[in-house]
Amino acid sequence: MARKPIIAGNWKMNMTPAESVVLSQGVSNHYDRKWDKVDVVLCPPSIDLRSVFTVLDFDKSNIEVGAQNVHWEASGAYTGEISIPMLKDVGCTWCIVGHSERREMFGETDAMVNKKVRALVESGMKAIVCVGESLAVRDAGDAEGFVCDQVRAALAGLSDDEAAQCTIAYEPIWAIGTGRTATPEQAEAMAAAIRATVQELIGEQAAQGMRILYGGSMKPANAEAFLACENVDGGLIGGAALKADDFAALVAAA
Ligand code: G3P
Repeated sequence: MARKPIIAGNWKMNMTPAESVVLSQGVSNHYDRKWDKVDVVLCPPSIDLRSVFTVLDFDKSNIEVGAQNVHWEASGAYTGEISIPMLKDVGCTWCIVGHSERREMFGETDAMVNKKVRALVESGMKAIVCVGESLAVRDAGDAEGFVCDQVRAALAGLSDDEAAQCTIAYEPIWAIGTGRTATPEQAEAMAAAIRATVQELIGEQAAQGMRILYGGSMKPANAEAFLACENVDGGLIGGAALKADDFAALVAAA
């Protein structure tokens, strides 16, 4: 099945508002009509969201903006958190959820990820749900079971239609920011296992329509092999997203 690819850039905590304007402008300057066959998403730090919107010409390009995290409540005493209404107010349409860095450093649980996914889907925002195993889990031979359990937990309680709106990003923890990628064969095997799990949950047609991304040291030099995989529908990009030329090359490769 032909699925529209996604190239999403996760800028993490690497950009000041001024740098975000420069990077957004740099990406926007690369836009051409061929980009319309790809969902292009920029995910700056929350404090930079308004800055990014000042330079993106939505009449000219299809570039969308996402957040890197969100709280599942619409408002309340949650110091330091950002709500979905806040993100929608500035124009965000996407949100990354459950990134391994949040799971590892901030104790984000499967249950918290599921609450965020459900809140995003209910609000009409598009969720990129991150899943991925540690090197110890992979070396123990438990990677597929571990990752597919994360997928089940993330989508729990959603209707078939709601779950089908989600995008899954497989990011092996041992490949994030290390320069060491999974092999395309490993990425394809995991993406196929994720799609099979989603099929169990919501049926074949919806599973075939869901986009599954790879993330973990994807660069212009290695992207083609990943994007050629039958069950890989794009990339969630960290380091390479911080350079407009590299990010544009990844969009062009998708
Ligand atoms: O969310 C994407 C990120 O975790 C991947 O980072 O630097 O390995 O592309 P990087």
